[in-house]
Amino acid sequence: MATCSKALLFTILGCFFVCSALTARELTDDSAMAARHEQWMSQYGRFYKDDAEKAQRFEVFKANVKFIESFNAAGNRKFWLGINQFADLTNAEFRATKTNKGFKPSPVKVPTRFRYENVSIDALPASIDWRTKGAVTPVKDQGQCGCCWAFSAVAATEGIVKISTGKLISLSEQELVDCDVHGEDQGCEGGLMDDAFNYPYTAADGMCKSGSNSAATIKGYEDVPANNEAALMKAVANQPVSVAVDGGDMTFQFYSGGVMTGSCGTDLDHGIAAIGYRKTSDGTKYWLMKNSWSTTWGENGYLRMAKDISDKRGMCGLAMEPSYPTK
Ligand SMILES: *[C@@H]1O[C@H](CO)[C@@H](O)[C@H](O)[C@H]1NC(C)=O
Repeated sequence: MATCSKALLFTILGCFFVCSALTARELTDDSAMAARHEQWMSQYGRFYKDDAEKAQRFEVFKANVKFIESFNAAGNRKFWLGINQFADLTNAEFRATKTNKGFKPSPVKVPTRFRYENVSIDALPASIDWRTKGAVTPVKDQGQCGCCWAFSAVAATEGIVKISTGKLISLSEQELVDCDVHGEDQGCEGGLMDDAFNYPYTAADGMCKSGSNSAATIKGYEDVPANNEAALMKAVANQPVSVAVDGGDMTFQFYSGGVMTGSCGTDLDHGIAAIGYRKTSDGTKYWLMKNSWSTTWGENGYLRMAKDISDKRGMCGLAMEPSYPTK
């Protein structure tokens, strides 16, 4: 009887200690998380209007950190996620500000000429990185404006301007956003990359100007044949290319490094630029992409995405609607 009571007491005590230990740990976790949130807020200069907003943002931050940590802990992937400037946004908010708004799905396209069609795949370099050829300007930040289409078109245009004139000029996306409202594109509310190629560009400090003052004129654009990564490779070997992707899922939101081989969809909602391709030391083929979410996202603002995957549409739909400016 006594033994029994003792056992019962130990069970209760044991439970008490385990339970209180857990509570204490949860509290420690929460205060550690709160400290991380504070640290993140100062790193990214984030302020909230009141305690209620801060508490709500903290919950989002905490959920995102948990998602990122459990994704990385799975340890069986070729890429990893990290806490970045989007850490206090829900995925729905992220999509609303960074992707969807800035992209208009393409209407039915009239096929254009593809000037690289007769280029032999075997004759292409094994790898290319347009940064090493001085054809890529520093990574930009589209900010709250959903004008990813403009950044994508501008990156490809900066590339062809450098290749054809020898001059690397940082061109103005703002110009495109401000001035192209008369055409098909609707400034910050979204646009179509191919239409962006029909606009003359000025250098990044320019104001709205007429075509004669523009820093760069391009003739037009051509589409890379759809769903054909070999054709995309021919184009990228010759110049940076605008690429549309499905950039809305959480693995894109928090991509931090490695070769993205995730399970993103193909609902094209974001524009980036393909500026090269290569293989990792373990033989994984990838596209090198320039994004416009500043250098705190991804690999200093860049992203590597799996190349030549079995789905013809490419990783996140990258092979569905590539296009490039012509000069
Ligand atoms: C590719 O070669 C074919 C056959 O010679 C030719 O008709 C076509 O115009 C060429 N394409 C380009 C873009 O030069």
